[in-house]
Amino acid sequence: MVNKIKTIVLGVTGSIAAYKAAELASRFTTEGFCVNVIMTESAQQFISPLTFRNITGRPVVTTMWDIASEFSVEHVALAEAADVVLIAPATANIIAKIACGMADDMISCTVLATRAPIVIAPAMNDNMWSNSITRENVARLVKRGFTFVGPARGRLASGKMGLGRLTSLDEIFGITLQVLGRKGDLAGRHIVVTAGGTQEPVDPVRCLTNHSSGKMGYAIAEAARNRGADITLISAPTTLAAPPGVKVISVRTAEEMLKAVQDSVKKTDALIMAAAVADFRPVKAASQKIKRQEMSELTVELEKTPDILNEVRGNFIRVGFAAESRDLIANARDKVKRKGLDFIVANDITEKDCGFGTETNRVTIIDGKGKVDELPLMPKDEVADRVLDKLRGVLK
Ligand code: CTP
Repeated sequence: MVNKIKTIVLGVTGSIAAYKAAELASRFTTEGFCVNVIMTESAQQFISPLTFRNITGRPVVTTMWDIASEFSVEHVALAEAADVVLIAPATANIIAKIACGMADDMISCTVLATRAPIVIAPAMNDNMWSNSITRENVARLVKRGFTFVGPARGRLASGKMGLGRLTSLDEIFGITLQVLGRKGDLAGRHIVVTAGGTQEPVDPVRCLTNHSSGKMGYAIAEAARNRGADITLISAPTTLAAPPGVKVISVRTAEEMLKAVQDSVKKTDALIMAAAVADFRPVKAASQKIKRQEMSELTVELEKTPDILNEVRGNFIRVGFAAESRDLIANARDKVKRKGLDFIVANDITEKDCGFGTETNRVTIIDGKGKVDELPLMPKDEVADRVLDKLRGVLK
């Protein structure tokens, strides 16, 4: 959830993908944004302004010449109020107009007049996208600091497959939040986050793992991205989609995670170990599938995995997580000391709505000086922001 009310100008231009902008408007509105939609005349051939008006609860700008509009008194009012301008879908035409500095419709006019960052999500025929004129226009805008997201490859309006489809709404949403947070309180920081439960192979089809969903680590990565940090997310297998704008390194075992963490912390400000690393692994994984028919019983000898957080030390902040089922504070305190942590985020997994797979968590943050901060039950994305608040204090 975005803390302060932010204003987004969503420019919608004439593409078959215009209907998808309604979903974007809905997502930004749900996240607490004030969404001001501007539609070109062509966009209105594809989707009605009424749709956006109802979704956003705001007037929709459809022309430069509406004297009744609250924005028309000063044609740059929208531009000045914007924290970010997103054009989705953006046609080759609007990109060309913006690249030339034209201002003959409300979208190009707003883009020219705003100081807010601008995100463009193109959608067009693949030949139009690959045309050298469009390429030059895009290159010119990128050089000027515009952010392009997409297009994606897929089925186009013409029916053929190609590069030109509006990219996924998750991608557009995530990148817009990242652009918006570029100057946030973690700008210029590099943070390594680990997530998910590692898998330790028993044989080619079986493994030892745990119930970690990866949600907490992914929420931290996204929240830190939205506050301007440069993120490397080292993820054990999860069902979660890679957060847009985040460098993801996929690993499977504790050993692979150790190697990835060691490689990634060379220039980092902080390591946040939210991963549930398996503590034990089979001493030797069978190279062939163990056949049930051939055994009456099976004993697997286990050995300890490396303690990544304990081993990886350096000139950066180290944050641990502790999922406990008893003696929460005492166990977490012991881990802070034993692993030399700046702080630990502990939670009792036996409590309702907490821990593995849930959308919420109730955590206690304990720092190296023994300070205990018990937080109430809250959504994992809010927990993520509270953890980052603590991190920011320590980074200072
Ligand atoms: N951790 C790690 N490597 C391991 C085990 C844990 O880096 N092999 C990290 C976790 O990512 C977490 C912290 O250490 O941030 C604490 O993990 P936890 O499993 O609670 O602690 P353990 O050290 O494994 O102790 P115990 O199993 O006795 O609770």
